[in-house]
Amino acid sequence: MTSSPLANLADQTAKLLATIAGLDSIDHLREAEPTITGKRSILSALQKSFGVLAPEDRKEAGAQLQEARRVVESALESRRRELSQAARARTLLQDGLDLGDVVVGDVRWPASVGHPSLIAITQRELEDVFVAMGFTVSEGPEVESDWYNFEALNIPPAHPARGLWDTFYVELGEPETVVLRTHTSPTQIHLMEEAVAKDSLPIHSVMPGRCFRRDTPDSSHLATFHQIEGLVVDRGISFADLAGVIETFTRAYFGPDIESRLRPGYFPFTEPSAEFEVTCTICRGEGCRTCSQTGWIELGGCGVLDPAVLAAVGIDGSEWSGFAFGFGIDRCAQMRHQIADMRALIENDTRFLEQFS
Ligand code: DAH
Repeated sequence: MTSSPLANLADQTAKLLATIAGLDSIDHLREAEPTITGKRSILSALQKSFGVLAPEDRKEAGAQLQEARRVVESALESRRRELSQAARARTLLQDGLDLGDVVVGDVRWPASVGHPSLIAITQRELEDVFVAMGFTVSEGPEVESDWYNFEALNIPPAHPARGLWDTFYVELGEPETVVLRTHTSPTQIHLMEEAVAKDSLPIHSVMPGRCFRRDTPDSSHLATFHQIEGLVVDRGISFADLAGVIETFTRAYFGPDIESRLRPGYFPFTEPSAEFEVTCTICRGEGCRTCSQTGWIELGGCGVLDPAVLAAVGIDGSEWSGFAFGFGIDRCAQMRHQIADMRALIENDTRFLEQFS
């Protein structure tokens, strides 16, 4: 008598169920499917072997095999459902935007934090140069009274020198008594007043800050711009000390290729006064639109403190003397980095700014 081909059906079914439980991905399931329920499966092979059975046994065997196939197929389907649900959940987790959980600096969602402006970078570099030379750094208000911006600096009302500064007036108090500062020079006055009040002379300080003039912006002017003011009040100070500081600064900041020169000039608060110029770095002195064909760029002014300014703040000019200077931070940035049009400094285009660190 031939043994029944279904003698081991229970074991074979149990093995198939174990294989199905061990499938760990939809891809593996698809690969294994032909050997579990398909043509290459043991179930199909058993079906084909029914030829050896006596006809009266075939019906019973067919029913057994069909039941085994139903169990295996339903286990395979439920495994397929589990695996595809797990795969979908993983995809959602990976691709999903959790808008409630955006954290700056989170690598899953790196947010741009922009870039410091070149003006801020330049101001810090200039401060560093002057601090290394022994200066302290101070700041003053951007809105000033006429007295600080003009009068205490030896520019009385109706003085023709007022025409040097195209002034924005603030509508506050009497007409034309409050201004947006046209230069950082009024901060000198605040500093000297404070030193007198605290009896803390001498002063060696630089004062960076924002200034305003009714100018039409062009390639080398902005209506809102930045200056750095310098003030030294000490005993026995002369023009030679000023020239030394300007020269040392120019070499430290611009490097040995750039020349500086002091030209006689006029400012009401210094006597003698000079204009401080450096070689135009755009044309290297040849003459171009940026330097109005002169080959030189005026950075600012300087001079020996006028006794009238010392008197305005109550400093004894027979004991103390000093010098001051003031020049454009934006101009320094422009010359240092050869920026043909200064307006690029305030456009906040990060493609421009990312060139500077
Ligand atoms: N405040 C002047 C300006 O903006 C520049 C200046 C000239 C500043 C001479 C000074 C100085 O301290 O002594 O045009």
